[in-house]
Amino acid sequence: MSKRIALVTGGPGGIGSAICTTLSRKGYQVVATCAPVFECPNLDQWKQDMHDAGVDIKVYEADVADFESCKQAVEKIESEVGPIDVLVNCAGITRDSVLKKMTPQQWNEVLGVNLDSVFNMTRNIFPGMVDRGFGRVINISSINGRKGQFGQANYSAAKAGMHGFTMAVAQEGIRKGVTVNTISPGYVATEMVKKIREEVLQTIIAQIPAGRLAEPSEIAHVVAFLASEESGFITGANIDINGGQFIH
Ligand code: CAA
Repeated sequence: MSKRIALVTGGPGGIGSAICTTLSRKGYQVVATCAPVFECPNLDQWKQDMHDAGVDIKVYEADVADFESCKQAVEKIESEVGPIDVLVNCAGITRDSVLKKMTPQQWNEVLGVNLDSVFNMTRNIFPGMVDRGFGRVINISSINGRKGQFGQANYSAAKAGMHGFTMAVAQEGIRKGVTVNTISPGYVATEMVKKIREEVLQTIIAQIPAGRLAEPSEIAHVVAFLASEESGFITGANIDINGGQFIH
């Protein structure tokens, strides 16, 4: 059988890079998308790093917040690489601010990249998965969509919305072999988390029973598990990976 094709939005990001590497090593042909403005200012360096690590990733530009951009990117990928079997909606940004200072721009950018993106990409890929009788959609949400986070009304709302999407579309896909699941990482050692003010970050780490941040590879491991053929009966689920920070 030819290689399964996995598309990872925000592939060059902190968690995205680990997902691309893990899926590639597990035998997938991995395609990453990114929007240079938000997600990958150092794209050339990232491509070089992946190449040096022996990981073959194809990169396409797509603004995940824009439906037409996603439609065109998906058409291009499917004609040049092949039909997408696994979609990992991983693109995400933060624009943290307390609500009383949050601007409409901070709200709209986060909702666009973190939540509209899930519709924009899945809407363009899901029908093909259904027609072919196989698909895996994996939405990378966050602990903060589960519990809410001070200073993240925009991000918490978007991340909670991702799982609502998961639960709805899971029911539409399962009879056609398409599963849709959410992963909710806690605080992971990435540039996004390193941007948090040091004293605030230390307070957060003190609330993690594991006593540390997650490694990106610990998230990628669960992506690979959900993407596998054997996970075909898991759908509409949320998997928390947070070192015990939020248990319910
Ligand atoms: N709960 C209750 N009160 C809090 C609080 C909390 N968690 N955090 C801060 N406060 C209080 C402060 O003590 C302060 O009180 P006083 O005015 O009485 O002194 C007040 O709220 C204002 O707090 P800040 O000084 O922090 O306000 P700021 O405007 O300077 O900064 C902020 C706001 C940028 C949102 C900052 O609080 C912050 O960075 N918070 C962390 C946000 C966060 O967790 N982001 C995660 C990014 S990574 C990610 O999102 C990945 C993922 O999926 C996990």
